[in-house]
Amino acid sequence: MRCVKCQGTASVDLPSRNAAYCAPHYLDHFEYEVGHNIRSLKMFTPDERVLVAVSGGKDSLALWETLIRLGYKTTGFHIHLGIGEYSDLSREKTEAYARAHGVELIVVEVEAAVGATIPEVSKALRRVPCSGCGLTKRYLMNRTAREQGFSVLATGHNLDDEAATLMGGVLHWQMDSLGRQAPALESTHARLGRKVKPLYTLSEKETASYAVLRHIDYVVDECPHSVGALSLLYKDVLNRIEAESHGTKLRFFQGYLKNLRPALASAGQKVELRECATCGEATTAEVCAYCRMVQQVYRWKQRRVAPAPTPAPTTPAPASPSA
Ligand code: AMP
Ligand code: FES
Ligand code: ZN
Ligand code: ZN
Repeated sequence: MRCVKCQGTASVDLPSRNAAYCAPHYLDHFEYEVGHNIRSLKMFTPDERVLVAVSGGKDSLALWETLIRLGYKTTGFHIHLGIGEYSDLSREKTEAYARAHGVELIVVEVEAAVGATIPEVSKALRRVPCSGCGLTKRYLMNRTAREQGFSVLATGHNLDDEAATLMGGVLHWQMDSLGRQAPALESTHARLGRKVKPLYTLSEKETASYAVLRHIDYVVDECPHSVGALSLLYKDVLNRIEAESHGTKLRFFQGYLKNLRPALASAGQKVELRECATCGEATTAEVCAYCRMVQQVYRWKQRRVAPAPTPAPTTPAPASPSA
């Protein structure tokens, strides 16, 4: 296997792109592709301050590294979810990266913001952890970016994430989420910031190869709550198709952006956004879903700490005759 650039021994084989690269040319390829995505979709300019959501995993750390190397003005943003050792390790790796590279990092604890950790939120809502987790992450990312003066929020979603989300949207015909799925989302309300995904054309294999070749120390384990998630099944199915028919994943997602998204975006109904009566963030309801969740968690906690009510005296039931 030879590098397509220098004919030297290749370290990364990319059948999906019909190419292979030696380590230095692979790193060039990856950084060039990210820079190209940013410029072609006008995600942000070198003058803008970008808040990079960093989970401590390979994708978001690879994104942060690339943006720093490309000369963009970045600050990291990490949300400590309170999911036991997994969250502690994720924060450690993110903080270690920021220290080693001398870059600014903002850390927010879900327990402090919501009043409970993600596993507790899950119990309070009686829903799978990912549901409260996703809502909390989206809310805290948007609010922090605006409050701290960032014009744009960048996440490390890669091609596999986007293709799997698209597959879920198509399989269940979720027209709302299909219409909203895009690598660059403009602000639609003064309180909703721009959101971008500069890695959207790079596969999980590509981001992992980049992180390894750049010696980035990232959390390898997935969140313990992701076991059995449908998104993992969709990723697996797409990878099996990809193995038989190289380039399918990229064509699937780019085909959607070219052929379906413009039609959905123009046909979609404009949602009326207003400010949440409790926190002031943009929402379609009187009180936003995040504030309703925080209230529910608060009531759940109150019930747990409140002493059990003394049962009212009742007339003893007649003893049943012994057998
Ligand atoms: P996921 O939803 O876990 O696939 O993550 C998608 C992207 O969301 C990551 O690449 C990060 O940019 C961001 N993200 C996920 N979890 C966190 C977190 N705990 N803190 C900050 N950003 C996160
Ligand atoms: Fe949110 Fe696992 S439940 S990362
Ligand atoms: Zn080479
Ligand atoms: Zn609110």
